[in-house]
Amino acid sequence: MAATEPIDIVELGVGDAQAALVLSAEAGWNQNEADWRFFLAQGIVFGLREGDRLVASTALLSYSAGNAWISMVLVTPSWRRRGIATRLVDACLAAATQRGLTTWLDATPAGAAVYGPLGFTPTLQLRRLRLETPMDTTVTRPLSASSPEALIARDCDAMGFDRRPLLSEFAARPGSRIVSEAGAITLVRDGRTARHIGPLLADHADQALALIDAIVRSETGPWLIDAVFSQGEFLDGLIRAGWNIERPFQRMRFGPATVLAGELPFAVAGPEFG
Ligand SMILES: CC(C)(COP(=O)(O)OP(=O)(O)OC[C@H]1O[C@@H](n2cnc3c(N)ncnc32)[C@H](O)[C@@H]1OP(=O)(O)O)[C@@H](O)C(=O)NCCC(=O)NCCS
Repeated sequence: MAATEPIDIVELGVGDAQAALVLSAEAGWNQNEADWRFFLAQGIVFGLREGDRLVASTALLSYSAGNAWISMVLVTPSWRRRGIATRLVDACLAAATQRGLTTWLDATPAGAAVYGPLGFTPTLQLRRLRLETPMDTTVTRPLSASSPEALIARDCDAMGFDRRPLLSEFAARPGSRIVSEAGAITLVRDGRTARHIGPLLADHADQALALIDAIVRSETGPWLIDAVFSQGEFLDGLIRAGWNIERPFQRMRFGPATVLAGELPFAVAGPEFG
């Protein structure tokens, strides 16, 4: 690694959405242009350019009560192992410190190798699962639409802080729906390659599984979900229903916890959003 090599980190704007999408698509990630527009409009996004091409990125998204999420840490293969990710995450941490924010992220195994030495410590473990087609599509049943308010309130209880701007924006997208039944509620939204389900809050694993089952029978996939690993009954149920684990994510925090999380979600909003 050339830690002292001069690199010109720049702050990106909404006009960079297409270039940023090329970078995340290259890594096979599911974010679409709407996701990038949200980061670029609502967050602070840093990047590195080589001529006209964006070769690296990272985003800092502020939530409420002094919390923020770092995500979209991407370095194109030919620029890796030159300290770029380290410096981009450092830029996010500096911006967060300036604003008095505790930062969180959900790390891929390669990402965790970068963040550990920077001082991030592990919290929750997640598993990304994918379903191509449900095993049984014979019976579909109607699903009740729920309100953004119901989801925002329950998500706030779980996270310990309010994510109204994010969840309202998700809910307003044309391909999104919020559905609930029997103590469970979730949001389904479009991604680049698959529909994404989450956050998912429920009183019991069987309610969470029943809601997922109803969703996958009622629309066309494929689907992705980021399940909380310690929700073992839920994870086992998904695997029995044909979902495949794609990769682990490790939730990490920089700085002391400033909020008290409430109920444990069954699935999160996505590793890029927490
Ligand atoms: C993970 C990623 C962002 C790292 O970017 P990078 O610019 O190569 O990272 P850095 O050069 O700052 O790495 C700093 C240190 O982290 C560790 N590290 C980085 N990538 C690693 C990997 N793939 N495996 C193991 N350790 C790794 C090394 O200790 C490295 O120091 P070294 O090169 O002196 O050995 C890049 O590989 C990438 O874009 N991967 C695909 C997307 C992804 O997983 N992003 C992370 C999301 S959480």
